[in-house]
Parts: sequence; structure tokens; C-alpha cells
Amino acid sequence: MHGGDIYSAARELKRNPTEILDFSASINPLGPSPQVWKAITASRHLLSHYPDPNCWDLRQALAIFWHIDPEHIVVGNGSTELIEALPRALGIHRLLVVQPTFSEYAAAMVRAGGQATALFADRSDQYAIPIDRLCHVMEAGRHDGRSIDGVVLCHPNSPTGQACSADDVARLAKATRRRGLWLVIDEAFADYCPDRSVLPHAASWPHVVILRSMTKFYALPGLRVGYAMATRITARQLQRQLPPWSVSAMGQVAALAAVNDAAHARKSLRFMARERERLQASLVALPGCVVMPTHANYFLVELPLGWQAREMTKQLRNKGVLIRDCSSVPGTNSRSIRLAVRTVQDNDRIVRTISHLLLQGAS
Ligand SMILES: Cc1ncc(COP(=O)(O)O)c(C=O)c1O
Repeated sequence: MHGGDIYSAARELKRNPTEILDFSASINPLGPSPQVWKAITASRHLLSHYPDPNCWDLRQALAIFWHIDPEHIVVGNGSTELIEALPRALGIHRLLVVQPTFSEYAAAMVRAGGQATALFADRSDQYAIPIDRLCHVMEAGRHDGRSIDGVVLCHPNSPTGQACSADDVARLAKATRRRGLWLVIDEAFADYCPDRSVLPHAASWPHVVILRSMTKFYALPGLRVGYAMATRITARQLQRQLPPWSVSAMGQVAALAAVNDAAHARKSLRFMARERERLQASLVALPGCVVMPTHANYFLVELPLGWQAREMTKQLRNKGVLIRDCSSVPGTNSRSIRLAVRTVQDNDRIVRTISHLLLQGAS
């Protein structure tokens, strides 16, 4: 189950989808850059043409942004399309994942006829990424008694919000490379902690693929644009697994305008730094709730003992508010929810609503 399905909720509640308050998908609350609207309007004439199959202009813009060669970049229909293609492109049959984490890595492995095996981060350690254990497993090239072909690191991780240092990720890359295994680093939320990203250097590290998304920080979930960075050879291997024209003309135009708007990016980061701290303080003040530290634009929160995430999710949904029930994510407990950081007004509303439900439940 993924977040962001305002449509099902709207149908159930007989409301307009835009009336649903969505804390289940973590999207920049300031919305897309104003330049995106202008670029889309100016490109209406492109609708009657196929999109550029090479995403040429967007790849040039991304190459300038990251100071790398465009041949290192592959654009996909959201990073989900790239996650789907990776097992085939890299020849991965057994992949290590670090739970609790994003479900699509394991799901894509199963769809490709392969398998995922899991290493678990400790709740007692606030789900910190177990980097030493991870390096150890990669050096051995085996987990649970069987060989593995690679590891995927969600960095920062969803739903826990945890990230390690860029130096630690580099150490993992070295350990992985020693045995010729693959390291996939999903940096879908790394715009919020650039000092922990291994870009741009890692774009040319052998046996490493880095994924980025235009969905979260650039607030373009409806257009489906993501990209991968890897060596030229690996980028070509990945490109060959994608269907033609998978990235729409409007997706390409919008992503290009978004990447080029540095002022909106700075404003978004400033807002998030402030508002994340404010929301954290309000959540911590909710009696019995445990709030995990985060490097992203969401919080993993454990409800007080006696509460179930599923029940809280249901009660909020009935009020037109979506949150992410994380109780089914392997490695979390049944009280775990994930909340996006939204606007000041929205954040105040969710804290008030949860507080009210907790009080009602206690009485
Ligand atoms: C960690 C992570 N990676 C990748 C994705 C996929 O994002 P998209 O396909 O919209 O780029 C998601 C979506 O929720 C995610 O949470």
C-alpha cells in the first residue's frame, strides 16, 4: 500500500479529491516552482507530438545541475519505473534491503522473478541505518546463508527518516564493489539533506546506481519523472530496459523548469527546516507518542501504547485526512504511522485532530 491515493478516499467519502488533506505522501508543501506553470503553458503545442525519447533537454539541465556528463543520466516515468527496471538491467536475482523501508524494492524483485532478503535496523537505535553490519554482509557477499547480488539503500530512508553520513555510504560502496556486487542508493528524499548525499561523485562510481525523484522536493507527483545516475555503461544498460517515450512531454518540460529554479529550491529548504522543527515539537508534546528523528520531510511516529496505527488511520480517513499506516512495513510495530510535513495550517490541524482522537480514545 502506498500513500497519496486521494482518489479512493474521495470516492469513499463522496468528496472532491482536492478536499482530501493528504499527509500520506510527502510532497513539498510549497508546491511546484511557479516556473513550472509557465513552462507547461508555453509548451501546449507539444501535446500533439511524441515526447523526446532521449529526454535530451532535461538530461542537459540535470547534467549542468550535477556537474556531470549527460550520458551518466537516465530519465524514467518516476523513479518507480527505474526501480522496476533495475533487476533486469543489472542482472540482480537476490537483493538485500534494509527494513523497514520502501516496499517497491522487494516488490520489483519479485515481479522480475527474483528475491529480496532483509537486514533489520533496530528500533532501540531509532532505526539508525546499521551501516557496519551492512558493510560486513556486503564484504561477505552472503546473507542468510545464500549469496546476494546487491543491496539497495533508501537514503534518507522511508519511512524512518534515517540517513547516515556521505562517508559511510562511500564506505558501503567500497565494501560492495570489492565483490563486484551492486549498490543502489535511492535518494528520493535527499534534496532535504544534501550534505548526506554522495552526489555528484558517485555518478561515476562503478557498480553504483543513484536514484532521484522529481516527485517529492519538486512537487510533481502527477507528472511522473525520476532519474538514475550511474556510469555510462550502466546507464545504457538501464536505458535499454525502459519502454520508448515513457516520460511525457509535459513531464520533461516541467522537470526542466523545476530544476532550473534555484530560488524556489532555496525557499523550499528554508521553509522545511523551520516547519519540520515546529511540527516535531508539537508531535513530541502529544502524550505517549514517540517521534523518530528525521532527515527528510516526514516523521515516523509511534502512537501511545494501546493504540493501533490502523485504527488511527481509519478514524482520520473518515475525517478526510490521509496518513501513512506503517504497521505492515516489516520491522515496525503496530503503532507506527508516517506523517508528511505540510503547511503551517495543515500541520496545526493534524496535531489538533490526532490530539483530540487520543484524548477521546483515552476517556
Ligand atoms: C523512497 C522512495 N523512493 C522512490 C519512490 C517513487 O517515487 P516516484 O516514482 O514518484 O519518483 C517513492 C515514492 O513514494 C519513495 O518513497
